[in-house]
This record gives sequence, C-alpha cells and structure tokens, in this order.
Amino acid sequence: MTVAAIVPAAGRGERLGLGRPKALAVVGGLTLVARAVDGLVAGGVDVVVVAAPPGDEDAVRSALGHRCATVVTGADDRVGSVDAALAALPADTEVVLVHDAARCLCPPDVVRAVVDAVRAGHAAVVPAMAVADTLKRTGPAGEVTATVDRSGLAAVQTPQGFAATTLRAAHDRARARREAGEPPAATDDAGLAEDLGVSVVTVPGDPRAFKVTTPLDLAMAEALVVAGSA
Ligand code: C5P
Repeated sequence: MTVAAIVPAAGRGERLGLGRPKALAVVGGLTLVARAVDGLVAGGVDVVVVAAPPGDEDAVRSALGHRCATVVTGADDRVGSVDAALAALPADTEVVLVHDAARCLCPPDVVRAVVDAVRAGHAAVVPAMAVADTLKRTGPAGEVTATVDRSGLAAVQTPQGFAATTLRAAHDRARARREAGEPPAATDDAGLAEDLGVSVVTVPGDPRAFKVTTPLDLAMAEALVVAGSA
C-alpha cells in the first residue's frame, strides 16, 4: 500500500517578511520544506509531492537536494496547490497526507498516528490540540459580545490524512463549487471532506506542529532546533 504525502509549499509567506517564499526560510541550517519532507519520510511516508510557488520550482528542487520528492507548480490558493499535487500522485496511492511546509517541526510520531488511523479504516483524520486560551466573540469595534465555551473546540494541525479516494472526491467537489462561482466550503482539506459528509476523526496533535507564520514563530522554531527539542 503506497502512502503518499502532498506538501503545499506555494505560499508567499508575506507575514514572515523575508522577501522569499516561506518554504525556503531556514531553521537550524535547513529549509522549512526540507524539514517537512524529512519528518514525513521519518513517519512512514513513501512518496512526497511538493507544490512550489510558481517561478520558484527550481529553488524548491535545490532546497530538497537528495530527497526523493516530486515538485509541481502550486496555485494562488492553498486548495489549488493541493489540487495540483494530487494530479501528480502515483495511481496506486491508497493513503494520502496533506502537510503544510510551514509545520516543519511536526514530530514523526504524529505522522505515524495519522497514517495508522487511515489504515485502520478512517477516511479522514486530523491531529488536534485542546484550545488553551479563553475564547471571546467580538463585535465590529472589538467589543466582547460573548464568551465561547471551549470545551468542545479543538485547534487542528497537519498532516491531515485521507483515503486517497476521499481526498480526490473532496477536491473534485471543491473544484465544482469554484467553477459554479460558489465560495469555498473550507480552506483545509478535512473541511472539504466534511463538505462531502465524510466523518473526520482526530488523533493527538503536538505543540511542535505549530505553523510558522510570523518572525516570532521562526525564532521559536530556531530555538527548539538549537535546544534539540525538535
Ligand atoms: O499562508 P498559510 O500559512 O496559511 O499557508 C499554509 C500552507 O499552505 C503553507 O505551507 C503554504 O506554503 C501553503 N500554501 C500553498 N499555496 C498557496 C498558499 C499557501 O501551498 N497559494
């Protein structure tokens, strides 16, 4: 059974402010995209397809060096980038993970847990963390309008895992919605599967699977690598 992973790495990463795509930012001497691919392979993934920012395909290829990964051209939104990578998966793929390059320190154990849950028969799996902060709903002037009960809430991470047929069907439906001029049902892949009526299960996430978005996140990632904690 082939376990494949798609790495959407085509974001420009403007909030990081480096003047180059986020996936090519460096943490502890390695790019985010190379770290993300290494984590997936260590977690049992056989085949990796990376979606690169249009025009930066060669830079992503050279960041990946010896790693066995196919690079395709990404799109101008994340769903489109995943779509482009889906088209490049081997035909015999049965399990497919979608893993943001920006979550480059996700431990291999989380990858393995997601793969195992899909293999056990769950069509869609997400790593989830309890929400630590108190959550408020706010109005247009920033005023608090309600306190949200966080007991039933979870923050979800990647890799998200799917039976390959489920992910393909979810993206077919997302494409049909786009072509009909409808707004996207979700920006993450599990959300697209929910839109199909597929039930999504959770496995425990990990704080190290946080998404590198801002310069502070990059500094935290660097500190974790230097301390040997990731
Ligand atoms: O922008 P954000 O941090 O939400 O992006 C999450 C992940 O999706 C990143 O790894 C980014 O490279 C990827 N992405 C993509 N194509 C886009 C936008 C984002 O592959 N057009």
